[in-house]
Amino acid sequence: MTETVLVTGGAGYIGSHTALALLEAGHRVVVIDNLINSRPGALAEVEDLTGHPIVFVEGDATDEKLVEHTIRENAVTAVIHMAALKAVGESVEKPLDYYGNNLESAIATLAAMRTCDVWKFVFSSSATVYGDPESNPIPETAAIGAASPYGRTKEMIEMIIEDVAASDDRWQITSLRYFNPIGAHESGRIAESPIGKPNNLMPMVMDVAAGRREKVLVYGNDWPTIDGTGVRDYIHVMDLVEGHVAALEQMTDGSGYQVFNLGQGRGTSVLELIAAVEEATGFAINYEIVGRRAGDIAECVADPRLANEQLGWKTRRTTADACRDSWNSQ
Ligand SMILES: NC(=O)c1ccc[n+]([C@@H]2O[C@H](COP(=O)([O-])OP(=O)(O)OC[C@H]3O[C@@H](n4cnc5c(N)ncnc54)[C@H](O)[C@@H]3O)[C@@H](O)[C@H]2O)c1
Repeated sequence: MTETVLVTGGAGYIGSHTALALLEAGHRVVVIDNLINSRPGALAEVEDLTGHPIVFVEGDATDEKLVEHTIRENAVTAVIHMAALKAVGESVEKPLDYYGNNLESAIATLAAMRTCDVWKFVFSSSATVYGDPESNPIPETAAIGAASPYGRTKEMIEMIIEDVAASDDRWQITSLRYFNPIGAHESGRIAESPIGKPNNLMPMVMDVAAGRREKVLVYGNDWPTIDGTGVRDYIHVMDLVEGHVAALEQMTDGSGYQVFNLGQGRGTSVLELIAAVEEATGFAINYEIVGRRAGDIAECVADPRLANEQLGWKTRRTTADACRDSWNSQ
């Protein structure tokens, strides 16, 4: 079935790639974004790459009336809710901004959907809800307990949407817990380009490779991991967004509330990622080992089997592919 999908936060890194995957799968795309961490240019590139238009509304997803109007005007049939502030460190300094923006935008979007009789909702959750996991790989049934205000916004929204789903059988709601998205579309024309200083490892490594930054700071080499640096499950952004299309397309009447991990199921340390970028770019990446960051954890790797089995989805691209595509997008 062809859907008209509202992607809140759709001008951002994952949102613009999601728009592309949705259009390529034959769906229509409407975006609401307040451009707090993005530029609309990425969506123009997506229109150009796919040959399909995107309806772009510059505005705030906390504005229930705006969301309602956008849904009605465009006959939206499903929503992927990505609008959020996402920097873990900043969330410790500005918790009210994070709780305000992330919770209010989710609640306003859900309320507008209910008013407009639209019931398919996919939520951008995060592996940060697992906090410091007891063991790896992490299944969806593992205990949750986020360690930062940002992570707690995701945990709280998951609780809210579970209650919302239970309140009315018409809801079809899926939380996707992303591990660490990296990479870019193979065209290199849309990229991860946050406003201001990047917070995630890959954009920092790319900044060093491109000569915009002197070195990568590696936070700790005394973790109980293969080489002492933190281990994460890096997933190519195109694999990640294909998971959204799969999640949307498998929703059926009565599917209720579902939760899936989206990850490769394979861990890579910081030093291994740096080596993979050196290989992909041919440049030596200067780095410095500094102390651990408060709230960091040793390892976080997905068990993606539930999504593999129930969504018929699996990752097709490697970490090396993601390094090449990130570099290509620079
Ligand atoms: N990138 C990651 O590592 C990662 C990991 C797990 C989960 N996520 C989640 O995925 C989603 C997308 O992340 P991203 O990496 O693309 O980040 P991003 O910052 O590139 O995209 C988020 C977009 O939301 C917009 N936005 C924020 N608040 C808004 C509001 N109130 N109304 C309208 N637009 C708003 C921003 O301008 C931005 O374009 C977020 O919900 C994020 O928390 C990201």
